[in-house]
Amino acid sequence: MASVEFIGVEKVFPGGVTALADFSVTVPDGEFVVLVGPSGCGKSTSLRILAGLEEPTGGRVRIGDRDVTSLSPQDRDVAMVFQNYALYPHMTVFDNMAFALRMRKTPRVEVARRVEEAAAILDMTPLLGRKPRELSGGQRQRVALGRAIVRKPAVFLFDEPLSNLDARLRVQMRGELARLHSRLRVTMIYVTHDQAEAMTLGDRIVVLKDGRIQQIAAPMELYDRPVNSFVAGFIGSPAMNFLPLDSPGSGLAGVASAGQTPPEGAVLVGIRPEDVVPSPQGALECTCEVVEVFGNEKIIHLRTADGNLLVVRVEPSTPASIGGGARVDFRRGRCHFFGRAGERL
Ligand SMILES: Nc1ncnc2c1ncn2[C@@H]1O[C@H](COP(=O)(O)OP(=O)(O)OP(=O)(O)O)[C@@H](O)[C@H]1O
Ligand SMILES: [Mg+2]
Repeated sequence: MASVEFIGVEKVFPGGVTALADFSVTVPDGEFVVLVGPSGCGKSTSLRILAGLEEPTGGRVRIGDRDVTSLSPQDRDVAMVFQNYALYPHMTVFDNMAFALRMRKTPRVEVARRVEEAAAILDMTPLLGRKPRELSGGQRQRVALGRAIVRKPAVFLFDEPLSNLDARLRVQMRGELARLHSRLRVTMIYVTHDQAEAMTLGDRIVVLKDGRIQQIAAPMELYDRPVNSFVAGFIGSPAMNFLPLDSPGSGLAGVASAGQTPPEGAVLVGIRPEDVVPSPQGALECTCEVVEVFGNEKIIHLRTADGNLLVVRVEPSTPASIGGGARVDFRRGRCHFFGRAGERL
């Protein structure tokens, strides 16, 4: 078990691409941290630097009380699970999981003990004799996890490990990862571009954009108090609505209906879909353009009289029809305000 520290890490690739700039994160021992951000923002690069697969062009990396910046990957005591988990096709599940231990000349009895233990944790015991082609996608993913678990690393690194799975399996494996963490209590660093995975798995979330950290916070802090309009728009689904504050029929009317006053310098108001409420006397007059029925909720896309789009989450019983009119208010005190540079005000 160990803590992890990135201290002012920088990575500039040959050719001048800055993948990470001034990247500083401290992960206490046993924490589950999720790095999230759009494609190309530097997520994999940060994990590869921690694993020793890539050398930073600046800064230091520490694992536990050791500076590992110039240590080779095998001396770092980390195990990485990748998106394409590349199992050895001709080996059984047992042999796939045992492979790294045998390479290290671990005694036979110890290998068997660790593989059986990992298989039990992952509910894979009956499958140990099978080959990867005889497994479902989710089961293969569990073998990849098993390969990491048997090594008993100080730190687990996950690079989008669930993105090859279908939506249902992804949710199931998400639950299994959460259980795995609460059982092992090992430091885990998990990379994803999926904000739902980040919110549900992370003790804390690091939001990255263009190689720069935007915010580090616990999930609900991130959701309730995003530091800028990028984080506000990235976390949450459907995304937060943004309206210009110079639009009297939508932005300004909405803010007034919430009983708020925009702070000095605010140019945008942000309002989450669940914080827009239909009401017969609502201050915003809209037309309904799209209705999405999910069973447990309805998502309605409204067009305000002055032309802005407003996505609203409502009870499934709320009446809504395409082309129909609707009036809405913003929930009291729920407006987020942003300045010209996107900063939270
Ligand atoms: N070996 C390399 N040489 C040059 N540029 C690279 C190299 N590897 C990555 N990059 C660039 O560095 C940036 C960050 O890449 P990285 O793979 O860390 O992104 P990511 O956040 O993991 O994206 P994704 O979600 O698509 O996996 C990108 O602009 C990428 O093109
Ligand atoms: Mg990546």
